[in-house]
Amino acid sequence: MNSDLLKGLNEHLKLEFRAAHEYLAMTIWLSAHDLPGFATWMRQQSSDELTHAQRIIDHLLGRDQAPVLPAIPAPPKTWKTLEALCAHVLRNEQEVTASINDLYATAEKAKDRPATVMLQWFVTEQMEEEATARAVLGRIRLVGNTGVGLLMVDQELAGGKVPGMPAEPAPAQG
Ligand code: FEO
Repeated sequence: MNSDLLKGLNEHLKLEFRAAHEYLAMTIWLSAHDLPGFATWMRQQSSDELTHAQRIIDHLLGRDQAPVLPAIPAPPKTWKTLEALCAHVLRNEQEVTASINDLYATAEKAKDRPATVMLQWFVTEQMEEEATARAVLGRIRLVGNTGVGLLMVDQELAGGKVPGMPAEPAPAQG
């Protein structure tokens, strides 16, 4: 494997593990603030980030390359507001997207087909994750950090209705 690509994939692991760690810290904060829907969303996100790191580790192992596990800084324990927490999630996702896009360009330059195919999955995943984070932040900006509107958004998230991309239009009949 191209050395820049190997280095980049190993460095990317840090972003996924850091996000998993921070989203778990957010789960704890959200639970303490009586927002079980948001906590459920963040718990799932934390778990997803671990599977993202695992995908890259498996790719490296499958190609006889050595994954190097990073040191992860302790996550924040508190956020000033729910809006600040949601903005933090969006920033994380944008950072992950930028890293994936850089890795994709490196893989293409190196003509590394297997890595390009593996990274293609991440390109699509990041588009969805960013859209969801942006949509949740937008909801909070609409309803504010307290009140009935907030409870409604929390219930939506508790029911697994994570806002995100607009629904596809139904196919035309006939
Ligand atoms: Fe794996 Fe949310 O980036």
